[in-house]
Amino acid sequence: MISLKNPEQIRKMREAGAILYEVLQELRGQIKPGVTTAALDVFAEQLIRKHHAIPSFLHYQGYPATICASVDDAVVHGIPSHKQVLQEGQIISIDCGVQLDGWQADSAFTMGVGEISPEAAKLIEVTEQCFFDGVKQAVAGNRLGDIGHAVQQVAESHGYGVIRDLTGHGIGRNLHEDPAVFNFGEPGHGMRLRKGMTIAVEPMIAAGTWRVTQDKDGWCFRTADHSLCAHYEHTIAINEDGLPELLTYPGFTWKEDA
Ligand code: MF3
Ligand code: CO
Repeated sequence: MISLKNPEQIRKMREAGAILYEVLQELRGQIKPGVTTAALDVFAEQLIRKHHAIPSFLHYQGYPATICASVDDAVVHGIPSHKQVLQEGQIISIDCGVQLDGWQADSAFTMGVGEISPEAAKLIEVTEQCFFDGVKQAVAGNRLGDIGHAVQQVAESHGYGVIRDLTGHGIGRNLHEDPAVFNFGEPGHGMRLRKGMTIAVEPMIAAGTWRVTQDKDGWCFRTADHSLCAHYEHTIAINEDGLPELLTYPGFTWKEDA
Protein backbone atom coordinates (compact mmCIF):
# COMPACT_ATOMS: atom_id res chain seq x y z
CA MET A 1 0.00 0.00 0.00
CA ILE A 2 1.30 3.44 -0.92
CA SER A 3 0.84 6.16 1.69
CA LEU A 4 0.78 9.63 0.14
CA LYS A 5 2.02 12.48 2.33
CA ASN A 6 0.51 15.94 2.66
CA PRO A 7 2.69 19.08 2.65
CA GLU A 8 2.80 19.19 6.45
CA GLN A 9 4.04 15.60 6.62
CA ILE A 10 6.62 16.31 3.92
CA ARG A 11 7.74 19.31 5.99
CA LYS A 12 8.52 16.99 8.89
CA MET A 13 10.45 14.65 6.62
CA ARG A 14 12.38 17.68 5.33
CA GLU A 15 13.41 18.46 8.92
CA ALA A 16 14.67 14.92 9.43
CA GLY A 17 16.39 15.17 6.06
CA ALA A 18 18.21 18.37 7.02
CA ILE A 19 19.67 16.71 10.13
CA LEU A 20 20.75 13.70 8.10
CA TYR A 21 22.37 15.96 5.52
CA GLU A 22 24.47 17.61 8.22
CA VAL A 23 25.45 14.23 9.68
CA LEU A 24 26.59 12.92 6.31
CA GLN A 25 28.48 16.13 5.50
CA GLU A 26 30.32 15.89 8.82
CA LEU A 27 31.07 12.22 8.21
CA ARG A 28 32.68 13.09 4.88
CA GLY A 29 35.20 15.16 6.81
CA GLN A 30 36.02 12.21 9.11
CA ILE A 31 36.85 9.73 6.35
CA LYS A 32 40.61 9.30 6.04
CA PRO A 33 43.23 6.54 6.26
CA GLY A 34 43.59 5.14 9.80
CA VAL A 35 40.01 5.79 10.92
CA THR A 36 37.89 2.78 11.90
CA THR A 37 34.35 2.36 10.67
CA ALA A 38 33.33 1.91 14.32
CA ALA A 39 34.63 5.42 15.07
CA LEU A 40 32.52 6.80 12.22
CA ASP A 41 29.51 5.04 13.71
CA VAL A 42 30.01 6.59 17.15
CA PHE A 43 30.48 10.01 15.55
CA ALA A 44 27.21 9.67 13.61
CA GLU A 45 25.17 8.46 16.57
CA GLN A 46 26.39 11.31 18.80
CA LEU A 47 25.61 13.95 16.19
CA ILE A 48 22.11 12.56 15.56
CA ARG A 49 21.33 12.49 19.28
CA LYS A 50 22.66 16.04 19.67
CA HIS A 51 19.83 17.05 17.35
CA HIS A 52 17.36 15.15 19.59
CA ALA A 53 16.72 12.77 16.72
CA ILE A 54 16.92 8.96 16.60
CA PRO A 55 19.27 6.80 14.50
CA SER A 56 16.81 4.86 12.32
CA PHE A 57 19.05 1.91 11.51
CA LEU A 58 20.06 1.09 15.11
CA HIS A 59 18.09 -2.04 16.11
CA TYR A 60 16.13 -1.97 12.82
CA GLN A 61 15.34 -5.65 12.30
CA GLY A 62 18.21 -6.29 14.69
CA TYR A 63 20.79 -4.16 12.86
CA PRO A 64 23.49 -3.29 15.43
CA ALA A 65 24.69 0.18 14.35
CA THR A 66 23.77 3.74 13.33
CA ILE A 67 25.43 3.67 9.91
CA CYS A 68 26.15 1.10 7.27
CA ALA A 69 29.80 1.36 6.19
CA SER A 70 30.43 -0.65 3.03
CA VAL A 71 34.02 -0.71 1.77
CA ASP A 72 35.22 -1.59 -1.78
CA ASP A 73 33.36 -4.75 -2.91
CA ALA A 74 30.76 -4.34 -0.14
CA VAL A 75 27.51 -3.14 -1.74
CA VAL A 76 25.44 -2.16 1.31
CA HIS A 77 24.77 -3.03 4.97
CA GLY A 78 28.42 -3.26 6.02
CA ILE A 79 28.45 -3.36 9.84
CA PRO A 80 30.94 -0.87 11.34
CA SER A 81 33.82 -2.52 13.19
CA HIS A 82 36.79 -1.60 15.38
CA LYS A 83 38.79 -4.03 13.25
CA GLN A 84 38.06 -2.24 9.99
CA VAL A 85 40.72 0.46 9.60
CA LEU A 86 40.29 2.56 6.46
CA GLN A 87 43.20 2.41 3.99
CA GLU A 88 44.29 4.90 1.34
CA GLY A 89 42.75 4.00 -2.02
CA GLN A 90 39.62 2.30 -0.70
CA ILE A 91 36.10 3.51 -1.44
CA ILE A 92 33.48 3.60 1.28
CA SER A 93 29.71 3.95 1.13
CA ILE A 94 28.12 5.48 4.21
CA ASP A 95 24.38 4.96 4.56
CA CYS A 96 22.42 6.47 7.44
CA GLY A 97 18.86 7.11 8.58
CA VAL A 98 17.37 9.69 10.93
CA GLN A 99 13.99 9.66 12.62
CA LEU A 100 12.52 12.94 13.89
CA ASP A 101 9.04 13.14 15.47
CA GLY A 102 8.24 9.77 13.92
CA TRP A 103 9.29 10.71 10.36
CA GLN A 104 12.16 9.08 8.51
CA ALA A 105 14.96 10.23 6.22
CA ASP A 106 17.46 7.91 4.50
CA SER A 107 20.55 8.88 2.50
CA ALA A 108 23.91 7.48 1.42
CA PHE A 109 27.06 8.54 -0.42
CA THR A 110 30.29 6.92 -1.55
CA MET A 111 33.71 8.57 -1.39
CA GLY A 112 37.36 7.70 -1.63
CA VAL A 113 39.73 7.24 1.30
CA GLY A 114 42.62 9.58 0.47
CA GLU A 115 43.80 9.23 -3.13
CA ILE A 116 41.89 6.72 -5.21
CA SER A 117 42.34 5.29 -8.70
CA PRO A 118 40.76 7.05 -11.68
CA GLU A 119 38.62 3.93 -12.18
CA ALA A 120 37.23 4.12 -8.65
CA ALA A 121 36.58 7.86 -8.97
CA LYS A 122 34.73 7.26 -12.23
CA LEU A 123 32.51 4.61 -10.63
CA ILE A 124 31.51 7.02 -7.85
CA GLU A 125 30.82 9.83 -10.32
CA VAL A 126 28.73 7.66 -12.63
CA THR A 127 26.73 6.27 -9.67
CA GLU A 128 25.80 9.84 -8.68
CA GLN A 129 24.87 10.54 -12.30
CA CYS A 130 22.64 7.44 -12.23
CA PHE A 131 20.84 8.88 -9.21
CA PHE A 132 20.30 12.32 -10.70
CA ASP A 133 19.16 11.01 -14.08
CA GLY A 134 16.77 8.67 -12.25
CA VAL A 135 15.35 11.40 -10.02
CA LYS A 136 14.76 13.71 -13.00
CA GLN A 137 12.16 11.12 -14.02
CA ALA A 138 10.45 11.24 -10.62
CA VAL A 139 7.70 13.64 -11.69
CA ALA A 140 3.96 13.16 -11.19
CA GLY A 141 2.47 11.33 -14.15
CA ASN A 142 5.62 9.36 -14.99
CA ARG A 143 5.99 5.73 -13.93
CA LEU A 144 8.40 3.89 -11.63
CA GLY A 145 9.97 2.17 -14.65
CA ASP A 146 11.02 5.58 -15.99
CA ILE A 147 13.26 6.03 -12.92
CA GLY A 148 14.74 2.55 -13.16
CA HIS A 149 15.32 2.80 -16.86
CA ALA A 150 17.17 6.11 -16.53
CA VAL A 151 19.44 4.69 -13.81
CA GLN A 152 20.15 1.56 -15.84
CA GLN A 153 20.90 3.52 -19.03
CA VAL A 154 23.63 5.57 -17.38
CA ALA A 155 25.22 2.60 -15.60
CA GLU A 156 25.20 0.21 -18.52
CA SER A 157 26.44 2.83 -20.98
CA HIS A 158 29.66 2.73 -18.92
CA GLY A 159 29.74 -1.07 -18.83
CA TYR A 160 28.77 -1.20 -15.15
CA GLY A 161 26.40 -3.64 -13.47
CA VAL A 162 23.17 -2.50 -11.78
CA ILE A 163 22.61 -4.41 -8.53
CA ARG A 164 19.22 -6.10 -8.89
CA ASP A 165 18.70 -7.89 -5.57
CA LEU A 166 18.39 -4.61 -3.66
CA THR A 167 16.17 -1.62 -4.41
CA GLY A 168 15.12 1.81 -3.30
CA HIS A 169 11.82 2.10 -1.44
CA GLY A 170 8.96 4.22 -0.24
CA ILE A 171 9.66 6.00 3.06
CA GLY A 172 7.67 8.03 5.58
CA ARG A 173 6.66 7.00 9.08
CA ASN A 174 8.51 3.78 8.25
CA LEU A 175 12.03 3.47 6.92
CA HIS A 176 10.88 1.03 4.26
CA GLU A 177 7.44 1.42 2.69
CA ASP A 178 5.93 0.48 -0.65
CA PRO A 179 6.79 0.73 -3.47
CA ALA A 180 10.10 -0.97 -4.26
CA VAL A 181 12.09 1.41 -6.48
CA PHE A 182 14.06 -0.72 -8.91
CA ASN A 183 17.25 0.58 -10.49
CA PHE A 184 16.36 -1.01 -13.81
CA GLY A 185 13.16 -1.12 -15.83
CA GLU A 186 11.14 -0.24 -18.88
CA PRO A 187 10.04 3.31 -19.67
CA GLY A 188 6.29 3.74 -19.28
CA HIS A 189 5.96 0.62 -17.10
CA GLY A 190 5.21 0.21 -13.41
CA MET A 191 3.23 2.24 -10.92
CA ARG A 192 2.28 5.79 -11.78
CA LEU A 193 4.08 8.46 -9.74
CA ARG A 194 1.84 10.89 -7.84
CA LYS A 195 2.06 14.09 -5.83
CA GLY A 196 2.75 13.26 -2.18
CA MET A 197 4.84 10.18 -2.89
CA THR A 198 8.04 10.01 -0.81
CA ILE A 199 10.68 7.55 -1.94
CA ALA A 200 14.35 6.76 -1.40
CA VAL A 201 16.13 6.39 -4.74
CA GLU A 202 19.38 4.49 -4.26
CA PRO A 203 21.37 3.15 -7.18
CA MET A 204 23.98 0.53 -6.26
CA ILE A 205 26.39 0.21 -9.17
CA ALA A 206 29.20 -2.33 -9.60
CA ALA A 207 32.29 -2.03 -11.78
CA GLY A 208 31.73 -5.71 -12.69
CA THR A 209 28.88 -8.15 -12.19
CA TRP A 210 25.57 -7.17 -10.60
CA ARG A 211 25.43 -10.50 -8.81
CA VAL A 212 25.85 -10.34 -5.02
CA THR A 213 26.62 -12.63 -2.10
CA GLN A 214 25.88 -12.06 1.57
CA ASP A 215 28.42 -12.30 4.40
CA LYS A 216 28.00 -14.78 7.24
CA ASP A 217 27.01 -11.89 9.52
CA GLY A 218 23.65 -11.93 7.73
CA TRP A 219 23.93 -8.26 6.71
CA CYS A 220 26.76 -7.21 4.40
CA PHE A 221 26.18 -7.73 0.67
CA ARG A 222 29.20 -7.95 -1.66
CA THR A 223 29.67 -8.19 -5.39
CA ALA A 224 30.09 -11.87 -6.32
CA ASP A 225 33.20 -11.06 -8.39
CA HIS A 226 34.58 -8.70 -5.67
CA SER A 227 34.51 -5.75 -8.06
CA LEU A 228 34.13 -2.29 -6.54
CA CYS A 229 30.62 -1.07 -5.84
CA ALA A 230 29.29 2.47 -5.24
CA HIS A 231 25.99 3.59 -3.71
CA TYR A 232 24.23 6.95 -3.67
CA GLU A 233 20.87 7.72 -2.09
CA HIS A 234 18.51 10.52 -1.20
CA THR A 235 14.99 10.65 0.18
CA ILE A 236 12.81 12.58 -2.23
CA ALA A 237 9.25 13.93 -2.23
CA ILE A 238 7.05 14.59 -5.24
CA ASN A 239 5.64 17.96 -4.23
CA GLU A 240 2.40 19.79 -5.04
CA ASP A 241 3.98 21.09 -8.27
CA GLY A 242 4.54 17.48 -9.33
CA LEU A 243 8.34 17.85 -9.20
CA PRO A 244 10.87 16.00 -7.04
CA GLU A 245 12.50 17.66 -4.01
CA LEU A 246 15.61 16.11 -2.45
CA LEU A 247 14.65 16.10 1.23
CA THR A 248 18.11 14.95 2.33
CA TYR A 249 19.93 17.60 0.25
CA PRO A 250 18.77 21.02 1.50
CA GLY A 251 19.46 23.80 -0.95
CA PHE A 252 19.99 21.50 -3.91
CA THR A 253 18.93 22.99 -7.23
CA TRP A 254 19.11 21.30 -10.59
CA LYS A 255 21.52 23.95 -11.93
CA GLU A 256 24.32 22.36 -9.89
CA ASP A 257 23.87 19.21 -11.93
CA ALA A 258 24.70 20.73 -15.32
N1 MF3 B 1 19.26 2.53 3.61
C1 MF3 B 1 19.23 1.13 3.89
C2 MF3 B 1 18.26 0.48 2.95
O1 MF3 B 1 17.40 1.14 2.45
C3 MF3 B 1 18.75 0.89 5.26
C4 MF3 B 1 19.55 -0.09 5.94
S1 MF3 B 1 18.57 -0.79 7.09
C5 MF3 B 1 19.60 -1.45 8.22
O2 MF3 B 1 18.36 -0.70 2.72
F1 MF3 B 1 19.01 -2.53 8.58
F2 MF3 B 1 20.77 -1.63 7.74
F3 MF3 B 1 19.63 -0.63 9.20
CO1 CO C 1 17.35 3.22 1.67
